[in-house]
Amino acid sequence: MKRRNIILDCDPGHDDAIALLLCCYSDKLNLLAVTTAAGNQTIEKTTRNANNLLHFFNSQNIPLAMGASSPLVRPIQTCPEIHGESGLDGFDFPLYEEHYDKREGYQLIIDTIKENDDVTVITTGPMTNLAKAIKAEPNITSRIKEIVLMGGSTTEGNITKAAEFNILVDPEAADICFSSGVPLRMLGLNVTRKILVDDKVMLEASKIKTRGGDLFVKLMKVFNENQRKFFGLTAGPLHDPATVISLIDDEVFTFKDMQVKIDISNTDLVGKTYCLLDKPHNTKVAIEVNLDKYWENIYSALRRCK
Ligand code: BDR
Ligand code: CA
Repeated sequence: MKRRNIILDCDPGHDDAIALLLCCYSDKLNLLAVTTAAGNQTIEKTTRNANNLLHFFNSQNIPLAMGASSPLVRPIQTCPEIHGESGLDGFDFPLYEEHYDKREGYQLIIDTIKENDDVTVITTGPMTNLAKAIKAEPNITSRIKEIVLMGGSTTEGNITKAAEFNILVDPEAADICFSSGVPLRMLGLNVTRKILVDDKVMLEASKIKTRGGDLFVKLMKVFNENQRKFFGLTAGPLHDPATVISLIDDEVFTFKDMQVKIDISNTDLVGKTYCLLDKPHNTKVAIEVNLDKYWENIYSALRRCK
């Protein structure tokens, strides 16, 4: 079977790290490029983390470009409460060589889409880079197969009552992507908050004696502890890998076609994703998750990361 061409735009980030692991170890995907967003931490930190992770996954040959240092129009917001000062607290990487593509993230996205057919763009952070790419070269939209994002919610947000973090940080960027005409697939909080790294998951992962298993357990200890302190959750939700898993296993999520619109006002509702059933649809919105199948996909990727 032909592998699906993908770009991962991410802000690692504990859950982004596991999304990247899945991209590197799936035989159904062809990871063409990685770009970084400012979100969970500053752009310098998320880029350093992405570089460390690519080396750790023996994928340092994949082009990695630093994205925009701030959202399109609003000031930057980061999330050290969950991801720590480094953006990926809990795991000490060896000192890897730092080698980045010279292009800015959005330019690497444009070039990769032009040079390859049927590229799917996965975003697991604020959508700034993809929006910049679409603004700079609107013609690329006809070449993008699909945008698959972690963000938004059909119900409540996590940072405000209305908004989820990735959309709230750069609502204008999300609005550009959702209005672009490219088919979208949205994995929002309404499903990802059900995917909890609970004791059972930690126990199963700790039995996986690979480098991937070790990375997962160490990262998730810190992630869970921070989720408990900040959100009062008993276990952390593993949001971002949902995007990748939806591409490698079509039995994990159930989707409904909806029209999704982004609130870009300067009110309490900013960043809200309005998910409308009775309007012409632009997005497949995840509404159900099969948790056993989700974790099977995670465990099998951790086993392959030897
Ligand atoms: C999203 O926000 C980030 O902190 C996570 O990495 C995830 O992408 C969840 O709201
Ligand atoms: Ca993220």
